[in-house]
Amino acid sequence: MCKILLTGGAGFIGSHTAVSLSANGYEVVILDNLVNSRADVIDNIEKITGVEIPFYIGDCRDEKLLEKIFTENEIDTVIHFAGLKAVGESCEKPLEYYGNNLDATISLLKMMLKHNVYKLVFSSSATVYDADNPSERVEGMRLGCTNPYGWTKYMCEQIIRDTCRANKQLRAISLRYFNPVGAHKSYLIGENPKGIPNNLVPYIQQVAIGQREYVHVYGDDYNTVDGTGVRDYIHVCDLADAHVAAAKYLAEHEGCMEINIGTGKGTSVLEMIHSFEKANNVKIPYRIEARRAGDVDSVYANTQKAYELLHWKAHLTIEDMCRDAYNWQCHLQKQ
Ligand code: NAD
Ligand code: WQD
Repeated sequence: MCKILLTGGAGFIGSHTAVSLSANGYEVVILDNLVNSRADVIDNIEKITGVEIPFYIGDCRDEKLLEKIFTENEIDTVIHFAGLKAVGESCEKPLEYYGNNLDATISLLKMMLKHNVYKLVFSSSATVYDADNPSERVEGMRLGCTNPYGWTKYMCEQIIRDTCRANKQLRAISLRYFNPVGAHKSYLIGENPKGIPNNLVPYIQQVAIGQREYVHVYGDDYNTVDGTGVRDYIHVCDLADAHVAAAKYLAEHEGCMEINIGTGKGTSVLEMIHSFEKANNVKIPYRIEARRAGDVDSVYANTQKAYELLHWKAHLTIEDMCRDAYNWQCHLQKQ
């Protein structure tokens, strides 16, 4: 059986990917330092899959620990989720973000080459596209970022491309995620942000259960269907399946590439709020406020490359995302 190491596998996207990989017959090993997750996530992955998951608590920059993991396990492929991801925090603590996200990627690549592990899937982001591009982002478009977090993704993509160029055996796919939301239908795993959520859907979830009073809608004067910002929301379970498709692709093809992972459809903030109300029969109060610095009007994925190369496309709807996000939030509240 093919063994896959998930760095950051206790996190939101990593935990869902562990479940999808296991359902598709892969063995999973997880490394996570728990800076933004909890150890009980691993128990919940095991509950869902019925499989015991080898779990190493530690830092991806710790080369001694990586050495141990690669020695104890015959790793075939690595999926590298480990990273810090809060845009605002990255502006306050740029060195922490560059240090963590770049060093983790470099240590991992070094150790992969040392142990003859030649397949890597990297968690990149739609945030690497220059904001002035047309709304429908296509992989070849101009890149450029507006915050240190985004630059870490941009730089890691470049580090991976350069390492592939110098080591022809290495194969890599940087998946550029759009806006992942929702939760697994068992409601045992999902997103559990610390403090006040920065992202729209986790904020709506907390308003829905009365934990917060109303949604702050950042601007209604954008050039969009109703003036509010448009994004490409993707269900985290669809996103998890895209990693399975990427791992399969790397088993059969050489190369180094970047692939968008989104649905290809844009949804505005107000459309999301109304869909959430309808899907869950709840009221979501909101207030229109000033634009948030750094935001753009509309971003969604061109999904052709994902379909052509990975034979993957998203299936779950905005209604599925809203329902699963709400049920997960209700489950969290009961804990
Ligand atoms: P998350 O914070 O839930 O998961 C990341 C995990 O990595 C956490 O469990 C954290 O404890 C761990 N981690 C961080 N630094 C580490 C280190 N040095 N060593 C070991 N573990 C470490 O975030 P997520 O939403 O699951 O995102 C996963 C990846 O996808 C991240 O790289 C993120 O930047 C990227 N991404 C996320 C989004 C999003 O909106 N969620 C969008 C695009 C890209
Ligand atoms: C979506 C829309 C907001 C919150 C961010 C990161 C990006 C990526 C995903 C990792 C926008 C509006 C939001 C709120 C609102 N992460 N909004 N009220 O900004 O597309 O992307 O997360 O790679 O790097 O920048 O997602 O969910 O923050 O915002 O009105 O309380 O909702 O203005 O139009 P975004 P988001």
